[in-house]
Amino acid sequence: MVYRYGNNSNNVLNGITADISRGEFVAVIGPNGSGKSTLARHINGLLVPSEGQVTVDGMDTREPESIPEIRRRVGFVFQNPDNQLVGTTVEEDIAFGPENTGTSPEDIRESVDFAMTVAGLRELAGRPPHMLSGGQKQQLAIAGVVAMKTGCLVLDEPTSMIGPAGRRSVMGLLSRLKEEFNMTLVLITHHMEEAVFADRVMVTVEGHIAAEGTPREVFRSTSALYGMGLELPGPVELSNRLRALGLTLPDPVLTVDELVSCLCLL
Ligand SMILES: Nc1ncnc2c1ncn2[C@@H]1O[C@H](COP(=O)(O)OP(=O)(O)O)[C@@H](O)[C@H]1O
Ligand SMILES: [Mg+2]
Repeated sequence: MVYRYGNNSNNVLNGITADISRGEFVAVIGPNGSGKSTLARHINGLLVPSEGQVTVDGMDTREPESIPEIRRRVGFVFQNPDNQLVGTTVEEDIAFGPENTGTSPEDIRESVDFAMTVAGLRELAGRPPHMLSGGQKQQLAIAGVVAMKTGCLVLDEPTSMIGPAGRRSVMGLLSRLKEEFNMTLVLITHHMEEAVFADRVMVTVEGHIAAEGTPREVFRSTSALYGMGLELPGPVELSNRLRALGLTLPDPVLTVDELVSCLCLL
């Protein structure tokens, strides 16, 4: 699939071929300007390819009549939660989506309760969104999509504007959505520590997929990632340095927990 903004401009996506399976968690990493957001916006038809096609459960995003159904299946979470919050309270905000799809009042109630519980926002139901922390706002934005019961969630750098505690709770929420509800997740991120939790990592460089594999494959010291000027997850970097000093450690060591266990066994 190829995409260019405007007819005579350069290809921003330059021959992307990818398949994402139901229930899969895919992380997309890559330098700024490499096309991550452009790619993400193709998954629910916010953008349609200039050449080639994108299909969601067999539906082509170029067919306008398929777009409402595609959006019922693929939710989108933007970088800045402020752009996505509309209600005057947490509860109203979550109800906004289901209310606008002609759902019955009982179903709205059920969807809102479900989303508030999953996102851990029940205690904050009556709070105005602008009184929430950055992390809570992003959890609310995600809850708004969860209430729509889309099977797939695309998140474009959802943790780039929030602090470490907020990032942890958002990542906790994503892992719950995957483990308990088998949601398909596509997470665009520049935090490598988040990408290690994915089933598959795609690395975009200049509009194409330059490397792809499990986190263990992509973050191995022999991986193509190393020539691309991207930073590495902290534990990977640290374990590489310790290995260079002569310690016997697996390649790669992906998480702090893994590193601690390896060091304790030495
Ligand atoms: N609305 C737009 N119009 C024209 N060019 C754009 C637009 N949005 C992004 N681009 C260009 O497309 C390329 C990829 O951008 P983007 O998908 O936002 O990358 P990333 O999310 O990886 O930083 C960049 O060169 C960017 O300048
Ligand atoms: Mg982007």
